[in-house]
Amino acid sequence: MLLSVRGVTKDYGKRRAVDNVSFEVEKGEIFGLLGPNGAGKTTLVSMISGLIRPLTGDILLDGKSVLREPMEVKRRLGVVPQDIALYPSLTAVENLQFWARMQDVPAREESARIERVLGITGLSERRKDRVATFSGGMKRRLNIAVALLHNPLLLILDEPTVGVDPQSRTHILDTVADLAKQGLTVLFTSHYMEEVEHLCGRVAVMDEGKIIAQGTVTELKRIVGEMDEVSVNVTKLGANLVGGAGDDFYAQAKQEVPGLVDLRMNDEEIVAYTQSSSQLLPALLAFLVSRGFKIQSVSVKEPSLEAVFLKLTGKRLRD
Ligand SMILES: Nc1ncnc2c1ncn2[C@@H]1O[C@H](COP(=O)(O)OP(=O)(O)O)[C@@H](O)[C@H]1O
Ligand SMILES: [Mg+2]
Repeated sequence: MLLSVRGVTKDYGKRRAVDNVSFEVEKGEIFGLLGPNGAGKTTLVSMISGLIRPLTGDILLDGKSVLREPMEVKRRLGVVPQDIALYPSLTAVENLQFWARMQDVPAREESARIERVLGITGLSERRKDRVATFSGGMKRRLNIAVALLHNPLLLILDEPTVGVDPQSRTHILDTVADLAKQGLTVLFTSHYMEEVEHLCGRVAVMDEGKIIAQGTVTELKRIVGEMDEVSVNVTKLGANLVGGAGDDFYAQAKQEVPGLVDLRMNDEEIVAYTQSSSQLLPALLAFLVSRGFKIQSVSVKEPSLEAVFLKLTGKRLRD
């Protein structure tokens, strides 16, 4: 394996931000670290990067220990942090030149490497523009370019699509998939389960500092069993139904809707879990109509990682 995280813990004062976390990333895979805000993802990334020292445990990259050989680890690692580390008054190329020198890229290779990473991240045409004129998504792409300059073995992206326009988001996800196809190993953190589900081969689900499940997306989905997820978009969701009458509503639904295993509600959506959506649907819709809901649309799909998270923690991922 390329990366081995072994029993790593980190406290901030009395708060345990990362609690005895272990996982391994194989060469060439895109490994996802999925968890809500505050789960401990960035703290973990900071420890892998050697910016924070773990209280317990060790981290090995390509056999090199972050505690004993931090410089060897740094050389093999490209990190795209959540916070942008760019000079707005410099152009894209000037920023890359600065970072190439910081990372000891050999001078004779510098311009070729810069052209390459600009190409990979789709920024070639904006190379001479000042970073101050870039959108959030373009800055993030330039950060990825910076992280690739020294040809790392492992690329870590910490929530790379947060606060990014949809076009850049798609571009970033496509770029990561392409890089992995070319053999780069990627550790990708996110609280967007769709991204992780779409992009990552294996996933560790993290909550409150702990890894609560890990495996392939298919393996994780088995945690919720062979169930369908039925989403009903509704309007006129009476506040009384969601709030006060919640438990009662759920009990009534259980009684009147055959095949209903679980039911969740948020603002405009009711999500039902069932082993048989064809049996459930007519009764569920009739039940909702009888309670004053107006049905806008219905969709049936396999359970998402959201359902896995819900099952394991009782919480929604995006709370
Ligand atoms: N520098 C810090 N000082 C104190 N507490 C921190 C610091 N950084 C993070 N935390 C806390 O540690 C926990 C994990 O945070 P973080 O690693 O940023 O999670 P994530 O990246 O998954 O959102 C949170 O409870 C957060 O408030
Ligand atoms: Mg974070």
